[in-house]
Amino acid sequence: MLNAQSLINTDAYPIFDRSSAESVAFFAASRKTYVEQGALALPGFILPAALERMARDAADVEHLSFKQEKHHNVYLLDTDRAFGDDHPRNRQLTTTNSTISYADIQTDAPLRALYHCKGLHHFIAYVTGKAGIYPYVDQLSPLNIGISRPGETLAWHFDTSDFATTLLLQAAEEGGAFEYIPRTRNEVDPAYERVGRLLDGDSRDVEILQAEPGTLALFQGRHSIHRVAPVKGDKTRMIAILTYDEKPDQQMNAYTQEKFYGGRCDGDGNRLCPC
Ligand SMILES: [Fe+2]
Repeated sequence: MLNAQSLINTDAYPIFDRSSAESVAFFAASRKTYVEQGALALPGFILPAALERMARDAADVEHLSFKQEKHHNVYLLDTDRAFGDDHPRNRQLTTTNSTISYADIQTDAPLRALYHCKGLHHFIAYVTGKAGIYPYVDQLSPLNIGISRPGETLAWHFDTSDFATTLLLQAAEEGGAFEYIPRTRNEVDPAYERVGRLLDGDSRDVEILQAEPGTLALFQGRHSIHRVAPVKGDKTRMIAILTYDEKPDQQMNAYTQEKFYGGRCDGDGNRLCPC
């Protein structure tokens, strides 16, 4: 497999040589940003030639992507009958996008080398405060490419996973920004009032995560509501989603695999971040 170090701008982002003072400082600063802001964006993480290849590879298999239209509430949970249909807890939103599964990404793709790079795993584990992170081992979920065509959007939601790792491969011509409200809720407060205001169109607390192509982003989506704004123009938004777990050898179960790659779309939220 290709050496992933050749894909990464290690001058700007010294993630491999852990013994240098520069690297120690970079790890610490990254961790601080992630903890304080709930997100870390590293623009230009992937070198231009590698990024160009990754985008080309993705475009070559775009026709294999699986299109979904999902109806869900922001909590990605079943409707709670204790609340009305229009309550922020239950209000239905529509997400439309397509996904290229791991199985359909070329076996020699640089993106696969990046996903399996142990140095990257160490960096992500450090920043997210995990003892270690490990690749998924099933055939569909480890590494995906999210495709958003003009008119499509990922509607507001909270993730069911602790964190998401993404790499933007190609931006939309217009729209397609990753929007979020840092720390919208916490373990005890579902923030119904705040969520309701947002869904009613009040965007005063919304921030945009910097994301030009080549940006590696780590995002804590469990407590920060987020969406991908509707894509406009002629260009498709393409983003790689690198899924890891704190335990080795994890697989997405068959039920969820069918739901996300097999054609069903009934709004269940047992899904890692698709942003
Ligand atoms: Fe998400």
